[in-house]
Amino acid sequence: MNLIRSALLKASESAWLREQAPRLGFVRRGAQRFLPGESVDDALAAARRLAENNIATLLTHLGENVCDCAEAASVTEDYLKLLDRIRAAGLPSEVSVKLTQLGLDLDRDFCYANLLKLIERSNAFHSTGGPAVKTLWIDMEQSAYVESTLDLYRRARQTYANTGVCVQAYLRRTEKDVEALIALGASVRLVKGAYSEPPEIAFSRKSDVDQNFLRLAKTLLGADARRAGVRAVMATHDLKLIARIIDWAAQEGIAKDQLEFAMLYGIQRAEQLRLAQDGYRSGVLVSYGSYWFPWFMRRLAESPANVFFLIRNLFSD
Ligand code: FDA
Repeated sequence: MNLIRSALLKASESAWLREQAPRLGFVRRGAQRFLPGESVDDALAAARRLAENNIATLLTHLGENVCDCAEAASVTEDYLKLLDRIRAAGLPSEVSVKLTQLGLDLDRDFCYANLLKLIERSNAFHSTGGPAVKTLWIDMEQSAYVESTLDLYRRARQTYANTGVCVQAYLRRTEKDVEALIALGASVRLVKGAYSEPPEIAFSRKSDVDQNFLRLAKTLLGADARRAGVRAVMATHDLKLIARIIDWAAQEGIAKDQLEFAMLYGIQRAEQLRLAQDGYRSGVLVSYGSYWFPWFMRRLAESPANVFFLIRNLFSD
């Protein structure tokens, strides 16, 4: 299975496949399971449906490794419009961005300036009397970007509290990063990690990643973190892990509405609903846009069932 995962993660980085594969009907049909559609309207409609069930959303415009400034500026403009639409619709939605989509590969200061525009617009929710202030989330990408992502996050966090960052449990360094983020009273989204990383820097055994996730979750939800004002989001579909976190939190006397879980659109829908109905904070990341191929390959790599699903689609072409 590791071989299939590696092959899919390699495919996610192939420029040729990114151009060619989305034209194939069975690939498009496979991706539709995880995308409500390619347009902003599709994403907002999904957010509205989820909100009816008390499920919040995190919206993201698919794209990464943008290699010209005009494109990064245009992505930033699109996100500003999205934030305005979220506010106008009064939706319980926040936005999550990839720094390489805002120009991190081109120029750090340019990327940072784009990021600040989005954080400031998210902050405007407060002053205009709209829904409570929104957090602007930063995704975590491949390990080569971790240092610069955390750097820009820290810089932004000095001025704006309404910004959050994702950290990956598969990285050995994350334990230290989490300590530093707790000291800042940061908003942190904990995930297992979606990329292919070498064993020197990342745990390669799934059981080690799961164990580290649980350890980090306890740290991020622990008394010190709560005192520091940390907002911790456990972003996983792993039902065993979720159950263990819930049991531990109950023993610690942590209120249900202080526990926040997030999943991806189209995965474990019943569980998303169950968590919301049981009084936990439940959120779903909704992706949209036409640049879905690398992202779709990473989703396939996460679950063998998805590969079989894609193969079934091939034969129903
Ligand atoms: P795991 O992979 O162990 O899956 C547990 C179970 O969930 C599986 O057995 C299967 O049943 C189900 N499942 C998981 N993934 C599935 C899939 N794709 N399709 C169908 N079933 C699936 N990563 C990253 O590196 N940077 C980031 O910024 C983010 N951001 C992010 C936000 C949110 C809200 C989520 C939920 C996830 C991310 N991720 C991410 C992705 C994350 O790193 C990870 O790759 C996936 O969440 C899969 O890991 P699980 O924790 O779900 O566990």
